[in-house]
Parts: sequence; C-alpha cells; structure tokens
Amino acid sequence: MTTILGLSGSLRAGSFNSALLRAAAASMPQGATLEVGTIRGIPLYDGDVEAQGMPETVVKLKERVVATDGLLLVTPEYNNSMPGVFKNAIDWLTRPPADIPRVFAKRPVGIIGASPGGFGTLLSQTAWLPVLKTLGTAAYFGGRLQVSRADGVFDAAGNLVDERIREQLKKYLAGFCEFVAAAQR
Ligand SMILES: Cc1cc2nc3c(=O)[nH]c(=O)nc-3n(C[C@H](O)[C@H](O)[C@H](O)COP(=O)(O)O)c2cc1C
Repeated sequence: MTTILGLSGSLRAGSFNSALLRAAAASMPQGATLEVGTIRGIPLYDGDVEAQGMPETVVKLKERVVATDGLLLVTPEYNNSMPGVFKNAIDWLTRPPADIPRVFAKRPVGIIGASPGGFGTLLSQTAWLPVLKTLGTAAYFGGRLQVSRADGVFDAAGNLVDERIREQLKKYLAGFCEFVAAAQR
C-alpha cells in the first residue's frame, strides 16, 4: 500500500486548493491512499522560537511526512510565486537541518495547484522547484496539473464538478503513485 500525505497551501475555508486536495483524496488509484494534512497552526518561523524548542505542530507534521511514502503539495499562486504561509510551513520542516535527509532526501514530491486565473499556478509550481531541489527530494515530473478558472471547476461547497479536470487529476495521481511505488522498491 502506498500512502501519500497531501498539504494545501491555503488556510482559507473556501480554498480551491484545499478542495482540489480533497478531490485528490477521493480520486486515488487502487492500492494507494492520500492522507489530508494541514499547515494550520504552524507558527511564523522565528529562530528564537526554535531555540526554545520545536513547536508541537511542526514536530507532528514532520513525523507525518516521514511516516508516508510521498508528499503532494497543492499550491496556490500569490504574485507569481508560492504563498508565504506554505513556504513558511515547509521551511519549519527543514529545521534542524540535520533532519533534512530523514524528512526530504529522495522523498517523492508532487506539485499541483488551482487558481481562478488563466495559468493554473504555473509560476507557483515553478517557484517550488529550487526548494525541492535544494532539499534533495525526488520531484515528480512525469505529469502536471494546473487547474485554471477554478471558480468554474468547484461548486460553492468545494466539490469538484468538472469531469475533464477529474480525469486529469486521476491521470496525474496514477502516474505519481506509480512513481512513489517505484521509489519504494
Ligand atoms: C496576495 C495574493 C496574490 C495573488 N497572486 C496571484 C497570482 O500571481 N496568480 C494567480 O493566478 N492568482 C493570484 N491570486 C489569486 C489566487 O489564485 C486566489 O486568491 C486563489 O483563490 C487562492 O487559492 P485558494 O483558493 O486555495 O485560497 C493572488 C491572491 C492573493 C491573495
């Protein structure tokens, strides 16, 4: 069984990216599950806070990453890059640096995202690449999913209502899960 941890980079209740993450959890191929994690409660990174001990929310999220086989980042796009809250959460997971190999090295990581705009988080997904490279992850490049015009893809309750996107999501997840399973062998 392949287990993947998914994180949405938005804290908004009506988030398109959190809706995409929930849709992903319901669209996994056989033999794989997607756990929906959260960055909620992760404080702003402050070296003085870290010096007093790692926050409990950070320790818990880090151990959830370690316990799963792959990580799926569902990223919004802010000003053609990743949102600060999402980067902040990942930055915390890289502390202390001695833990980076255990948490990130060779870990399969996929990136998808949704935006009401026309480019579907293309630049945000690209902005994550140097981060994934520097952490030594095994970034997945076998597929891509950029959900544009997201206000027409999800209904008011956050349900995925666009069947074309559902098929694209399933295809992405099938490829990513195959990649994650191959990394386990
Ligand atoms: C500070 C800020 C900057 C944004 N910049 C972009 C952008 O560069 N490209 C884009 O497609 N959408 C941009 N947006 C719109 C977001 O894509 C939109 O708010 C989206 O709903 C955020 O994701 P969420 O629904 O998961 O919260 C921006 C939104 C905010 C708040």
